[in-house]
Amino acid sequence: MSQAQIIDGKLLALEIEGHIAKEVEEFKTKIGFAPGLAVVRVGNDEASKVYVRNKELACKRVGFHSEHHHVPETISENDLLKIIQALNKDSKIHGILVQLPLPKHISESKVIDTIIPEKDADGFHPMNMGNLLIGKPGTLPCTPYGVIKMLESTGVSLEGKDAVVVGRSNIVGKPAALLLLQKSMTVTIAHSKTKNLAEVVGRSDVVIAAVGKAKMISGEWIKPGAIVIDVGINRLPDGKLSGDVDFEEAKKRAAFITPVPGGVGPMTIAMLLQNTLECAQKYYKL
Ligand code: GUN
Repeated sequence: MSQAQIIDGKLLALEIEGHIAKEVEEFKTKIGFAPGLAVVRVGNDEASKVYVRNKELACKRVGFHSEHHHVPETISENDLLKIIQALNKDSKIHGILVQLPLPKHISESKVIDTIIPEKDADGFHPMNMGNLLIGKPGTLPCTPYGVIKMLESTGVSLEGKDAVVVGRSNIVGKPAALLLLQKSMTVTIAHSKTKNLAEVVGRSDVVIAAVGKAKMISGEWIKPGAIVIDVGINRLPDGKLSGDVDFEEAKKRAAFITPVPGGVGPMTIAMLLQNTLECAQKYYKL
């Protein structure tokens, strides 16, 4: 039986990092210092700790200046906003990211709105989201941006094909759907209330899974020859990681599929670096 080609996110991310590292050298020659990313982490969420560590390591690999601002769970909303306002004015910093989720007493939308759009490395600010909606240039959210790069890496023509995005979050589902629409695909956004998900997935040439439920998408649902991009990272009871798609079954039907781990995860970080570089280049009109 033929098996899907694996889209190696780790390898693709390394290639992108290679390009960024070269651009960082040029930037330093022209400007005199490196682009800077500030990551703010609130409290001790274990997953956030790992993600932020990986972002810091990636910054080191490409030669960025990076700062990690770790503040306690009990910080007031006002004090957190003050940290962001200081970073907005800090000339060493060109990109700011506040790791989500935040404790319940802090409004995520207030935090996102406080980061100036020019330093919004996540692309979550309403100005950047609005630009994405109307097709104007702006900073793209990192995970959907990485998803598009992975689709492009297959070399398959997307125009006019059917895509389904399973999940409607502001961070992944909605922006991913808009980017697929920009590629002239016919896009369905499915979610927890969608009737007959199996049928919707079964007619799709591209499946983007972003629900956060292990193996929720059965391998038998996948249309033969489809491209499957799995954004989910779920911890199974045995401690192993699994995506939202039943990988072993889906790879028997798909033409291309992303693994978990080693798929979308490393690409999200690569695109965060790309966004920060672009924020710095735009600031200095390079
Ligand atoms: N938490 C999970 N994914 C993300 C992301 O892409 N950006 C931020 N800031 N927090 C997250």
